Amino acid sequence: MIVTIANAKGGVAKTTSAIYLAAAYARRFEEGATVLDADPQSSASLWRDMAEESVKAADFVVVPTSDSPIDLQQAWATMNAIPDGKPGAVLIVRAEPRTRAFQATVAALDEAGTPRFDAVVCKRQDIKAGMGHSPDKLHEYPQVLGEIVEAMGARA
Ligand SMILES: Nc1ncnc2c1ncn2[C@@H]1O[C@H](COP(=O)(O)OP(=O)(O)OP(=O)(O)O)[C@@H](O)[C@H]1O
Ligand SMILES: [Mg+2]
Repeated sequence: MIVTIANAKGGVAKTTSAIYLAAAYARRFEEGATVLDADPQSSASLWRDMAEESVKAADFVVVPTSDSPIDLQQAWATMNAIPDGKPGAVLIVRAEPRTRAFQATVAALDEAGTPRFDAVVCKRQDIKAGMGHSPDKLHEYPQVLGEIVEAMGARA
C-alpha cells in the first residue's frame, strides 16, 4: 500500500504525518513501513513534477492542512491534482477543535463536499517537541490509518 502525503504548502505536518502513520502501520500490522520524504524544500515547479509522479503511484493520497480556512485553498488545489478515481482525503492537523478557525475549516470542507478524515490531529506539544525521535504516543494517527485501511478495503 502506497500512501502519499501531499500539499504544496510548507509546514503543514506532511513529514510528521508520514512518520506517525508509518509508526501506526508498524504497530498495527507488526511489519515495517518505509517513509520516503520527497519534499525537501523544493521549488514549487519541481514539487509539482515530483508530486505528479508520486501521486500517480499512490493508492491513497492524504492532504494535510492546518485548521485555518486560508490554508484550504492549497489543500483544494492539491485535491484537484489527484488523478481521477484515486482516493484521497483532507486531514486537518495541528487542530484546536474549540476555535472558530477549526469549525470554519470543517464547515468549508463539508460545504464543498471535499472528502475528509473523521479523525482530526490535534495540536500537541509532544508532537512538536518529538522531532527526530521515534514517536511514542501516536495520538489520532492510528485512527487516520484505520480510515485509510477501511477505504482501501472497501475498494478491494
Ligand atoms: N499535531 C501537531 N501539534 C503540534 N505541532 C505539530 C503537529 N504536527 C506537526 N507539528 C509541527 O509543525 C511543524 C511542521 O511540521 P512538518 O515538518 O511535519 O511539516 P511539513 O509539511 O513536512 O513541512 P515542510 O513543508 O517544511 O517539509 C513541525 O515543527 C512539527 O513538529
Ligand atoms: Mg517536510
